[in-house]
Amino acid sequence: MLQIKSVDLKKTAIKTLVIPVCQDEDIHDGKKISSLILKVKKLNEFDGKKDEEAIFYEPEEVNAKRIIFMGIGKKENLNLETLREFTGKAVKKCISKKLSEVVISVPLKKNILNLFGNNPEAFLKAMLEGGALGNHIFDKYKKKKKRKILKKIVFSVSPDLEKKYGKLAKKIETICSGTILAREWVSTPPNDKRPEMLTKIITDLAKKEKLNIHVMDEKELKQKKFNALLAVSAGSDSKPRMIILEYAPKGAKKTVALVGKGITFDSGGINLKPTGSLEDMKMDMSGAAAVAATLLTVAKLNLKKKVIGIIPVVENMPSGSAARPGDIVKSFNGKTVEIGNTDAEGRLILIDAIAYGIKKYKPDVMIDMATLTGACVVALGEKIAGVFSSDTKLSESIVESGASTYERCWSMPLPDDYKKLLKSSFADIHNISSSRWGGAITAALFLSEFTGDTTWAHIDIAGPAYAEKESAYCGPGGTGFGVRLFCDLLEKM
Ligand code: BES
Ligand code: ZN
Ligand code: ZN
Repeated sequence: MLQIKSVDLKKTAIKTLVIPVCQDEDIHDGKKISSLILKVKKLNEFDGKKDEEAIFYEPEEVNAKRIIFMGIGKKENLNLETLREFTGKAVKKCISKKLSEVVISVPLKKNILNLFGNNPEAFLKAMLEGGALGNHIFDKYKKKKKRKILKKIVFSVSPDLEKKYGKLAKKIETICSGTILAREWVSTPPNDKRPEMLTKIITDLAKKEKLNIHVMDEKELKQKKFNALLAVSAGSDSKPRMIILEYAPKGAKKTVALVGKGITFDSGGINLKPTGSLEDMKMDMSGAAAVAATLLTVAKLNLKKKVIGIIPVVENMPSGSAARPGDIVKSFNGKTVEIGNTDAEGRLILIDAIAYGIKKYKPDVMIDMATLTGACVVALGEKIAGVFSSDTKLSESIVESGASTYERCWSMPLPDDYKKLLKSSFADIHNISSSRWGGAITAALFLSEFTGDTTWAHIDIAGPAYAEKESAYCGPGGTGFGVRLFCDLLEKM
């Protein structure tokens, strides 16, 4: 549980107090905290350098069992992300010390508020996010659970700020729980989230929220002619699903459709991936995870917009019944597609989902999110998603939300003349490009052939959806990328 609270450090019994300490300036406005910082710095073994640490036990100045001083470096290097990192690390530190709760002193002296445009809200939000997101351990598959997450994280502020921003804690906790949900789904091994299973996991939770749910099974998908999607699922003995989640609050004017790639395991199919490229392919449903978790979250937040989640869930496997390179299928919107490579499967399930979403819901805006191409990781690295849209306002808005959530996005081009790289001699379009270069762009152009005149953006999250190593406020595995981004974007749309 997260709380923003004014805590009397002398009267309240505190188990653990964490104080962030700047190297060059005092950024706290409480006298007690400032005198404690002077005291710890006098010892000459701690001066607030980034990641430095010191601990006082049972200090007389405050009623705390221990104070952990954590260095956050020079003031000029502080920004919202370094704040998230600090709180994430503080929470992880407390978890490793087997503590169950912590009070974090929020530094809000004028000299630091100035740095953030005198806006304590963004500042508090970032600290809450680091705390909530750092307080997560995915140990479902370990027999011995060595660590336990904290039960309570209190951000200590002045009574004024408690009054003004106290409610923020609940909201940020709700959003970050969405991220954590997506992380867990992505980290879940592929044998425990085959399409029928993942569908049940998602719809069981959706039933508890104010969401309308429709799940198409294989029979309905065949009836409705989702043939591009069915070609991908043909090799698997787990049946495909299309999950539709509708959040439709009364009086909503705008409809936003979110589409998420849900390949529960991408073996490549008959174009089997090599060793080294297969092992993490359980993450190929990260787009689906972000979309589903976003729908659950906006329902909890009572957002005032209509949001539709369209989530194709399929496993891409090689077998005697799998689609072959060279196969031609007639997709949902009638265009024929030559499957040049069965490993370019994401775009096949997406075009059917996109075309269906547009036909059925006529959304004002459609955004798809997908771990679509290795080429996007080559272009932007592992931390930044690629945004493709012919609507500059929409792509700018996404990039902006990426900056404020630090789920970073970068705008990429959709050049018309590259479309010829997708020509097929036999079908209306080829699912792979004839050039080995610009693979993220040609994949996006392929999708764009199925979006008609709907305002649409595609976000390729192949890089940032998954991290092998842990970082300040994320463990190894799924990162939950996309949920905070979507929530921020939907709120301002
Ligand atoms: N799921 C992969 C893309 C991917 C790669 C995601 C690495 C995360 C990390 C996608 O289905 C794929 O295999 N794409 C191919 C496309 C190619 C066959 C045109 C790729 O990127 O190599
Ligand atoms: Zn693939
Ligand atoms: Zn894939």
